[in-house]
Amino acid sequence: MTISIRRLNGALGAEVGGVDLARPLDAATADAIRAAFVGHAVLVFRGQDLDPAAQVAFTRLLGTPERHVLQQFALPEAPDVFVISNVKEKGQPKGAIRAGQYWHSDLSYTARPTSASLLHAIRIPSYGGDTMFAGMAAAFDALSPTMQGMLDGLRAVHDYTLAYETFFSRFADRPPLTAEQKAAVPPVEHPLVRTHPESGRRALFVNPGFTRRIVGLAPEESRALLDFLFAHATRPDLVYRHVWRAGDLVMWDNRSTMHLAVADYDMDEPRHMHRTSVQGDVPR
Ligand code: OGA
Ligand code: MN
Repeated sequence: MTISIRRLNGALGAEVGGVDLARPLDAATADAIRAAFVGHAVLVFRGQDLDPAAQVAFTRLLGTPERHVLQQFALPEAPDVFVISNVKEKGQPKGAIRAGQYWHSDLSYTARPTSASLLHAIRIPSYGGDTMFAGMAAAFDALSPTMQGMLDGLRAVHDYTLAYETFFSRFADRPPLTAEQKAAVPPVEHPLVRTHPESGRRALFVNPGFTRRIVGLAPEESRALLDFLFAHATRPDLVYRHVWRAGDLVMWDNRSTMHLAVADYDMDEPRHMHRTSVQGDVPR
């Protein structure tokens, strides 16, 4: 198989052509995809026809699949597949509704946050529902050396319940965390700047969805610095905006990006996606 790789913008993202992810990949193709992933942080594969088992098989090429704390939204026949959907059945959401509609990096609130996430579009609304990706390595590079030096060595607290306090609590159709689910995701601390284990590139590792505060700063100092970093990292030149088509498989590197699901579509139109993800390392 000869694959093609076309960059999508200056900071991150590439479209990969000439590959059918539903078939077993030869070693050279798998290596080329892994290398492109490290280099571009977001990879887009168009026109893929992947059933849950095939998506999980492709995910395994990148590491060990992990399961989300919201297990009520996993596919019963393929528990490694997490459903993100606004489709309701008898009033109950069939998947996580309003997932990721704020900037975040997947599972940054766990001790070993997700390395790669893979999202496969099954049904897409007639307009809207894009996903935006911010390049956190490019964002780090774009800071002055003095600011980089100030950030190095800082640590931040990440907490899943922050997204419920600041976002999900506004929506009656998003079920709250159960006591058991809350207990499974206690707050964790991570370095504010992390080094990618494969590329060696440094990246900001904070996000509005889950980063509660910077350790050792006064609350106002922490708020001001985080707000600056979030505004900086989401500069238009550091963001790739993906316009979905049914059949797309988009994979992203949570170690060097954050993302946001744009909530501008008609909630009566189905948006239905299958997500798999790979367990990452302890950020360093
Ligand atoms: C995710 C996520 C964004 C989207 O799958 O982790 O944040 O656009 N999804 O659905
Ligand atoms: Mn996400």
